[in-house]
Amino acid sequence: MGYQAAVITVSDKGSRGERADTSGPAVRRMLEEDGWQVGHTDIVPDEPEEIRARLIFCADELHMNLVVTTGGTGFSRRDNTPEATMAVVDRAVPGIPEAMRARSLSVTPLGMLSRAAAGLRGDCLIINLPGSEKAARECLEAVLPALKHAMNMIKGEGH
Ligand code: MTE
Repeated sequence: MGYQAAVITVSDKGSRGERADTSGPAVRRMLEEDGWQVGHTDIVPDEPEEIRARLIFCADELHMNLVVTTGGTGFSRRDNTPEATMAVVDRAVPGIPEAMRARSLSVTPLGMLSRAAAGLRGDCLIINLPGSEKAARECLEAVLPALKHAMNMIKGEGH
């Protein structure tokens, strides 16, 4: 059986229907093409409490193996996704955002401006991606090759 993933778009405008979300569907397609079952997608505003609640729901109620967020990792006062993520994980996984930023910096110096985080809440891996479709795709592409092995380690199947 494939692993279950959720894709959460974090965007005030997207959640109000004022901007079409292309990043969430692009992330979903990439995951599905890589063999993941995307069992849940949603759009939430950049509200820390709502982001935390949605991540907890995906991990604890839906038992998702992977939750990927897109958006809210920059410097605006409404960019709250990394803090919300770090508040709900019990172990940080710094290598994932390190790999994303390394890839991003090979494309644009603006890559250093994403504060994306990643971590484990129990057996659920949560990964932040930036909000633009291009940035989200580039960052996911950088980490996707390691994620199946990550899942196997979580399941205790070792190396
Ligand atoms: N990463 C990649 N690979 N490509 C990009 O174009 N844009 C950056 C950065 N990371 C970018 C990128 C910019 S301009 C910003 S502001 C931050 O991601 C944060 O984006 P967010 O606030 O939409 O999450």
